[in-house]
Amino acid sequence: MSELAPAWTAVCRIDDIPVLGARRVARARGPEVAVFRTADDEIFALLDRCPHRGGPLSQGIVFGHAVACPLHNWTIELNSGQARAPDHGCAVRFSVRVEDGVVFLDAQEMATRAVSPTETAEDTAA
Ligand code: FES
Repeated sequence: MSELAPAWTAVCRIDDIPVLGARRVARARGPEVAVFRTADDEIFALLDRCPHRGGPLSQGIVFGHAVACPLHNWTIELNSGQARAPDHGCAVRFSVRVEDGVVFLDAQEMATRAVSPTETAEDTAA
């Protein structure tokens, strides 16, 4: 857990993300972050790893405020990373800010959160 103020860094524009799709953002260390865009232009960011067996959530189908993992079809809530029942698990979530059509992620989180392949959402819970 970090007490530092967010270090917002621009990663793309909303229009760079397909509606009902995702864009992957690379980091210096650790798996990529998937930045999702819903039909109502809400933006969410999760580690691009499904909590089930690590499937690429960025390749999933976005519907409502959720994404269906492309590997075994778990439904992951975009605002929390939680798997929908009956499945159980949580994808690592990243903070997002949108301003004037530009999407920002927190550089501090990007540098430190889930950089280890074994780190889970429970490890990063505040
Ligand atoms: S890896 Fe995502 S549902 Fe299995």
